[in-house]
Amino acid sequence: GWKTEDVMDEEIKVINNMVVPDDHVICALSGGIDSTVAATLVHKAIGDRLHCVFVDNGLLRYKERERVMETFERDLHLPVTCVDATEQFLKLENNAFAKELENNLGKKPAFLVQGTLYPDVIESCPPPGTGRTHSHTIKSHHNVGALPKDMKLKLIEPLKLLFKDEVRQLGRILTVPYSFLKRHPFPGPGLAVRVLGDVTEDNALDTLRRVDEIFIQSIKDAGIYDSIWQAFAVFLPVKSVGVQGDQRTHSHVVAFLAVTSQDGMTSDWYHFEREFLDDVVQKICNNVRGVNRVALDITSKPPSTIEWE
Ligand code: XMP
Repeated sequence: GWKTEDVMDEEIKVINNMVVPDDHVICALSGGIDSTVAATLVHKAIGDRLHCVFVDNGLLRYKERERVMETFERDLHLPVTCVDATEQFLKLENNAFAKELENNLGKKPAFLVQGTLYPDVIESCPPPGTGRTHSHTIKSHHNVGALPKDMKLKLIEPLKLLFKDEVRQLGRILTVPYSFLKRHPFPGPGLAVRVLGDVTEDNALDTLRRVDEIFIQSIKDAGIYDSIWQAFAVFLPVKSVGVQGDQRTHSHVVAFLAVTSQDGMTSDWYHFEREFLDDVVQKICNNVRGVNRVALDITSKPPSTIEWE
């Protein structure tokens, strides 16, 4: 076992050895715990030679951009530029951040900070001799290996030996607000992995945002958010017949799920109260146009993964 304070001091030493006084470092903040804790740690080590970019890739949740920018600026004092890349999200790669910095500040960064965690490393490519059983690539969209091949930046990955609960502990020591640390994980590729099928069809992203917001807000109102590892909705490319008033409808099906987990490596479905489910399904069908059916995912991991894509 190791103490989180020791990990922090050790990582700050490592970063200060790697990054010489003239070097600049960039970090893409996703709004999640991992990149935020990684950036806060690097900021502690090298101060304002760290430059963070928050990219609104058009695949964020409802009001996400406003919510996270406020935390970065007001609570963490991180130097963050917000880039609106909604139009070009599919083409945007990490080296776009480097260009942004070069253009705006006239400085060429040498390093890129990534909030890679240990489970990302072992699920993508298990280090030899770890005795882990995940010997193949389970998911292709994890952060590891997702960088452009021609990237000249060296990587700083200060969390790559940590599990999520250890990152939360580290975040607490770095005074990242508790309300932020307890946020459910959200995948880097955003809502794209939660729209099964074409993301540009049938108003899928907006519909999903509305469903997700109602679902998550209901979970918070019920006081169960902290008991759940992760909860979210999935937009299915499937329509089914329904009836509203005296009209037949032919609308989309959405699924939602909530899971409990220690580290995201395995999970179990969260057992909601029946009244909670009745209430949330009614709210969704009454308030979200284009949805007439809600399914609940009760599969554990394995055999499923938590995300559907
Ligand atoms: P899966 O779906 O593989 O996910 O069971 C395990 C945990 O990792 C999150 N996840 C991701 N996080 N980039 C991320 O930063 C990704 O591409 C990604 N894919 C999955 C997932 O939400 C769950 O908490």
